[in-house]
Amino acid sequence: MRAVFVIALAALSLLAIYFISLSGERSEKSASETTAAAAPAQTEESGPSIGLIDDARIENAESEPGNWLAYGRTYEEQRFSPLTQVNKGNVAQLGLAWAKDMGTNRAQESTPIVVDGIMFLTSSWSRVFAIDAVTGETLWKYDPQVPGDTGRKACCDVVNRGVAVYKGRVYFGSLDGRLIALDAGTGELVWEVNTIIDPTRAYTVTGAPRAARGKIFIGNGGAEYGVRGYVTAYDAETGEQVWRFFTVPGDPSLPFEQPELEMAAKTWKGGNWWEIGGGGTVWNSIVYDPDFNHLYLGVGNGSPWTRAIRSPGGGDNLFLSSIVAVDADTGELQWHYQTTPGDNWDYTAVQDMALADMEVDGESRKVLLQAPKNGFFYVIDRSDGELLRAHPFAPVNWATHVDLETGRPVENPDLAYLEKEKWVLPGPLGAHNWQAMSVDVEAGLTFIPVQQSSFIFGMAEEFKKTGLFKRNPGRWNLGIEVGGVVQNFVNNLGTWPEPKGFLRAFDPLTGEIAWQVEIPHHWNGGVLATAGGLVFQGDALGMFKAYDKATGELLWEFNTYTSMLAPPISFEIDGVQYVSILTGTGGGDFFTGAPLPPFPNPASLDYNNFGRLLVFKLGGTEKLEVPKARDMEIPEQEMASLSDPEIARGEIAYHDYCAACHGMAVRSGGVIPDLRQMTPEMHAMFNGVVLEGILAPKGMSSFSDVLTEEDMVFLHEYVRARAHQDREVALGNQEQPRWTWLDSIR
Ligand code: HEC
Repeated sequence: MRAVFVIALAALSLLAIYFISLSGERSEKSASETTAAAAPAQTEESGPSIGLIDDARIENAESEPGNWLAYGRTYEEQRFSPLTQVNKGNVAQLGLAWAKDMGTNRAQESTPIVVDGIMFLTSSWSRVFAIDAVTGETLWKYDPQVPGDTGRKACCDVVNRGVAVYKGRVYFGSLDGRLIALDAGTGELVWEVNTIIDPTRAYTVTGAPRAARGKIFIGNGGAEYGVRGYVTAYDAETGEQVWRFFTVPGDPSLPFEQPELEMAAKTWKGGNWWEIGGGGTVWNSIVYDPDFNHLYLGVGNGSPWTRAIRSPGGGDNLFLSSIVAVDADTGELQWHYQTTPGDNWDYTAVQDMALADMEVDGESRKVLLQAPKNGFFYVIDRSDGELLRAHPFAPVNWATHVDLETGRPVENPDLAYLEKEKWVLPGPLGAHNWQAMSVDVEAGLTFIPVQQSSFIFGMAEEFKKTGLFKRNPGRWNLGIEVGGVVQNFVNNLGTWPEPKGFLRAFDPLTGEIAWQVEIPHHWNGGVLATAGGLVFQGDALGMFKAYDKATGELLWEFNTYTSMLAPPISFEIDGVQYVSILTGTGGGDFFTGAPLPPFPNPASLDYNNFGRLLVFKLGGTEKLEVPKARDMEIPEQEMASLSDPEIARGEIAYHDYCAACHGMAVRSGGVIPDLRQMTPEMHAMFNGVVLEGILAPKGMSSFSDVLTEEDMVFLHEYVRARAHQDREVALGNQEQPRWTWLDSIR
């Protein structure tokens, strides 16, 4: 095995030299040219050295700490690097080795795979890169040519969280729902399959596939728009479907696709969830467990969010918000644990899961660890799904505690929002989102990017008026009201828990916080812990930081001038340890837009959203240019004289169709253009952009399927009226209003 490695390494570096000297960067390949390319068998000249990543090599990842072979480094996905060259004693000397502009200003969320000197990663719009990890040179790149329109189907940005590298190939999911296999050596397309069962629904793929047992596993997203979740296993060699597991029951008049759905269907009562979608998308975490040959699926929220609409007769709505263990070969259910029965708050259980061997109550246990959105940290026996611990890791008010006897959360009845709006903590962004946590088994600690982010939940106007809720294609179908949320925040400033983040060292067995660092913004990056005694995290304020793992003391920081979400990783090449991170924010938080004063702006709003790959080493001396601060001025507006109820119509249309990207109340968070700052030329083109789709290739689709020219009159005026209002407030000519146009029609 060892000898093969060495030969492989040599072959790989030759290959790298070949590409760099020959062509620098290979041209991008259009997926459409090569759709359904015959799958060539692995050949000598097509990057054979990468071919050595197989199950055995990933299972033995501890024997090669310099590589980062799988999504969470190993099959256990602890995101803990055993490297120690960069450590507590010398981290002050950590400096930038190189920076690479990834050619995007949208969010980057990818975890690179690093193998034998090459980094494989994705950027926005599902573009894939193979990069020389020492020099930053692009060896090849692959653009799956996702249509710009697809951006409108993605609740949370045109992001991608990474690739799987397996048996000589690089696998990834494209935003428009394809699973694509590339040759790892050349970036050439081997095969691609469409993973989407219903093209009329807004399905997207943003998660990294996982590879094991000769199969590639992939889920999808889309529950906000109205879809039904499932996970599919494909043959790694051929792309043929091996099995599919639906996470929620479908139309009751049709036969069950799999036996487990008969049991699940009994937990859905009344309602027409299957018309809206049902939800339960597995959009992030899928973990393979070689100890039991299980595949764990982290299952998402309900679609719609509100259970009163989805399942008015009550019931737990399996397998929403659950951790589901299936057999990796057959997809048969092994066990399940539901974190949030009858989800009513968008409490996904898709957050990263880590596997560990831990001593629990004096007994050695094989456990699964997860800190999902709902704020409780679950320690589960992965042989049978037994719940061992469920301590809160963040402030929570929706439930008082989890009853370990029943395994169920005890909900706070005062926060039922069917009749009246309620402040709920955590809100839909969760106490922890997909941004990775890290696990240090030896210390018995997890390092979690915790969010304190509350939200006001109230039933959708349509439901309040008619008692019914119909799926509206082309927009979010949540079942709650979002239009007035910003105004509610403004009107109640000081009465709700302020939004902020924490990096928390949390003991999942005792529920104790060993230390924590407060961060003045809630939406921060993933975490890496190392055997060098360090914890790394990039934050919303643009600071990439290293903390003392034992105490939380800040030991090093680097200003990237842009906000971060992606998790750092560490690797070693030729005796040098590197730490890398992708910059650029976005994701689920861009709906909320700019923070309300007095809360601090993310760096991406103050400067810009720079999509870069940064790689650090001891003694690195590269510098980033200090960017100019962004112009925040809102120009004067030419107002039409519309009535308040007419502007309110625009306000509703804006929040139905535009807020998801441009920010609630027309306050962009710094990623998508701020419509309050449109130039007169852009105002003149407004209908052309929104109805005719002039900017569709850049991700600004046409909305002519849902908006008429008449709607546009009101929508445009609402945008102008909001801009005018904020300009006047900024100039000190008026106070922040405590009303909104919607008030005129309520
Ligand atoms: C899925 C995300 C998304 C949604 C939803 C969305 N937009 Fe956009 N919009 C974009 C992106 C991305 C751009 C920037 C395109 C570019 O790079 O030029 C943009 C640009 C624009 C621009 C040009 C602004 C400027 O100053 O350059 C206008 C106008 C606009 N959008 C209006 C709207 C309206 C009105 C709605 C709702 C009907 C809407 N958008 C919904 C993503 C979105």
